Amino acid sequence: MADRYKEISLETAQAIAEQLRSKPTSCFGLPTGRTPVGTYEVLADWSRQGKLDWSQACCFALDDYLDAPEEQTFAFFLEDHLFKHTNLPKENRFNPRITDNYDRLIAMQGGLDLTVVGIGRNGHIAFNEPGTPAQSYTHCVWLTESTRVANAQFFGGIDKVPVHAVTMGMATIMESRKLILIASGEHKKEIIEDSFADGIGPTVPASLLQLHKNLTILSDFDWQQ
Ligand code: PGA
Repeated sequence: MADRYKEISLETAQAIAEQLRSKPTSCFGLPTGRTPVGTYEVLADWSRQGKLDWSQACCFALDDYLDAPEEQTFAFFLEDHLFKHTNLPKENRFNPRITDNYDRLIAMQGGLDLTVVGIGRNGHIAFNEPGTPAQSYTHCVWLTESTRVANAQFFGGIDKVPVHAVTMGMATIMESRKLILIASGEHKKEIIEDSFADGIGPTVPASLLQLHKNLTILSDFDWQQ
C-alpha cells in the first residue's frame, strides 16, 4: 500500500473508532469500493484485537446492486471486509436492498452519526449519479455507463455489471452529523477539483457536500481548492 493511502485509511479508521468510543450506540453509513478497503483492514485488525466494541452500534450500507449475484453485493463486501471481524450484532447490519423505508429505519435508530463516502469519476456519491436532486432520499437508480465501466473489472466485463441499484439519497447522506469523503488515486483529482473548487449543483452530486457543516475530505493526492 502506498504511504499516503495508508495514512488516509488510518485517519478514516481513527475517526470511526473515536466516534464508536465516544458514543457506543453510534450509527454509521458505510461505503464499498476500492477506496475504503484500507480503512476496513485497520478496523478489522483493531476489532479482532478487541480494541473496538461494536455491540451497540448500527451500520448502514450506503448502497447496493439490485441484480448482482450474492458474492458481488455490497452486503457481502461489508460482511467480508468488516462485519465478520467485529462483534456488530447481525440485526444491526442494515442494507437498502432488503429493507423497506431505509430512511425511516435510519431515523428510528437516531440518525447517522458518521458517514464515510467515496466519489465516482463522474462525481457520484454512493450511487447518486449526476442529476440526482439534492432533496433525494433512498431510491432505486439506473447506473450510468461511467459507473458500470469503473466496476467492470469486478464482474469480468461491462455486460455483466448490474444495471440497477439502490442508494441512500443525497438528503439521507447530508443529514449525517459528520461526513468523511475519501478519494484515492490521481484519476480522482479532476472530479475532486470540479466538486469543491466550483459551484454547487446536482450535475456533480459531490459538489452538494460543500453545504455540509462537518465534512472532512481525505485524499492521497494534492489538489487545488
Ligand atoms: P472506488 O469507488 O472506491 O472503487 O473508486 C468509489 C465510488 O464509485 O464511489
